[in-house]
Amino acid sequence: MTSLDDVKWHELLNKRILGYFSWRLNRRNSHSVEILSHTLDDLARRQPDHVIISGDLTHLGTINECLEASAWLNRTGAPEHISIVPGNHDCYVAADFDATIGRWLAYMQGDPNETDAVNRFPYLRIRDPVAVIGLSTAVPTAPFFATGRLGAEQLQRLHHLLETTANRGLYRIIVLHHGPQPGASGHRRRLVDAGEFLSTLEEAGAELIIHGHGHRQVHQMLESGGRSIPVFGVPSASAHYSKPEKKAGYNIYEVNKTPNGWLTQVESFVLDDADQKFVKNFSRVFKT
Ligand SMILES: [Fe+2]
Repeated sequence: MTSLDDVKWHELLNKRILGYFSWRLNRRNSHSVEILSHTLDDLARRQPDHVIISGDLTHLGTINECLEASAWLNRTGAPEHISIVPGNHDCYVAADFDATIGRWLAYMQGDPNETDAVNRFPYLRIRDPVAVIGLSTAVPTAPFFATGRLGAEQLQRLHHLLETTANRGLYRIIVLHHGPQPGASGHRRRLVDAGEFLSTLEEAGAELIIHGHGHRQVHQMLESGGRSIPVFGVPSASAHYSKPEKKAGYNIYEVNKTPNGWLTQVESFVLDDADQKFVKNFSRVFKT
């Protein structure tokens, strides 16, 4: 998580001014760079094949914050090993893409032979047997709103990608910042076209959905098109909260193909305040 200590005042002459005061009053104390590096170090120890970050890397998406996030991404790992999607805080106001979240483009770019030359999202990365499909729900919103939107064109391309990757026998992980399931967020923080997303899912299916935004542990089974699709909302990696479901943490997903379908094991780890170590929070196994 980035800092706004060096923010320039001209960058705050818009909706960001409200977000800046929110950061001064609240978020500054509830996120810490130290916890972020502690989380990333612990995660690295487990040597995952691939890392997925589901967004809000910054508070207000300023040029300096995006540069700062780019530096810690580069320290964390190579772009081919890390896939990210942006969150609403990363696109807080309309801003120049290249100067802001475009700094992370290498981490949210599809494989060269899988990439749509015109559209950035959804991107597709094949890490056999897994297909990572990254969506962007990050759009600037009116003050006091933190909604997300996918848009009809992105949903149409998502439908196509879900079908083609299913035909290739891949395990499809959809990554998006806003939770798409009913009741995931309140009215001001919701994914506004969640209904259209769920219709796409119903027709084309997926094996796993990962989202951020809520800063809390979420696990739901989404009944869709005759399938049960696991949905995981992950807590923030930099969180300094006291509520158990909001403590900093990460999930590890292990995917195996069996003669009877996919076997997914999910282990959740959270930071234990007492000894500042990551401890297992829960472990689940799914057959899909
Ligand atoms: Fe968010």
